[in-house]
Amino acid sequence: MENFEIIFTEKQIQERTKELAETLYKVYKNEEVIFVCTLKGAVFFTCDLLKKYPGDAILEFIKISSYSGEESTGRIKLNLDIKKENIENKHVVIVEDIVDTGRSLKYLHDYIMNMNPKSLATCALLDKKMKRIVPIDPDYVGFEVDDLFVIGYGLDYDQRYRNLPYIGAKIKKLLSIQLKCCSSYKNVILY
Ligand code: IMP
Ligand code: MG
Repeated sequence: MENFEIIFTEKQIQERTKELAETLYKVYKNEEVIFVCTLKGAVFFTCDLLKKYPGDAILEFIKISSYSGEESTGRIKLNLDIKKENIENKHVVIVEDIVDTGRSLKYLHDYIMNMNPKSLATCALLDKKMKRIVPIDPDYVGFEVDDLFVIGYGLDYDQRYRNLPYIGAKIKKLLSIQLKCCSSYKNVILY
């Protein structure tokens, strides 16, 4: 694939997922936990996380959308709902692929919170902290990433590349253009 480089290998992802599963198990021990996987991006992460989670786990799915291409549209749409009876009075962990502006996580958090869970936590594989617009941070994070567009391991670019076992990032094209400015030359980086 052109213009992408691996930023997290399959081995790194699996190791970190195991650590997260162990951390979560220390919190919930043998209490039942409802893991809410946010489709489609978090599906690979949720499966691997749950396979490594030794406790009492129930798997639920929710689907929202806000992205088109590389940009968040800012408008969130609920595409697949979850039943209140599956959430009410239960320990719930929302599993996300990546937190970018924070809009999706905030929407999901508030939406699930309205269903009166016993407790609610959020777990994201990736956190683009510097892109945050809505002030919300996931409780558990796999890796922090810079302001890069990432693909693979569930993450897509217009629905493609989800099936890569690693996470890749789009390389920012460095077009070094020399501009004559005030009698000195300056390099300009274009993205
Ligand atoms: P937010 O609402 O802006 O935080 O965006 C969150 C959602 O946008 C994530 O759950 C992803 O599905 C998608 N997203 C954000 N950044 C990326 C990316 O770099 N690659 C692929 N999908 C992304
Ligand atoms: Mg997502």
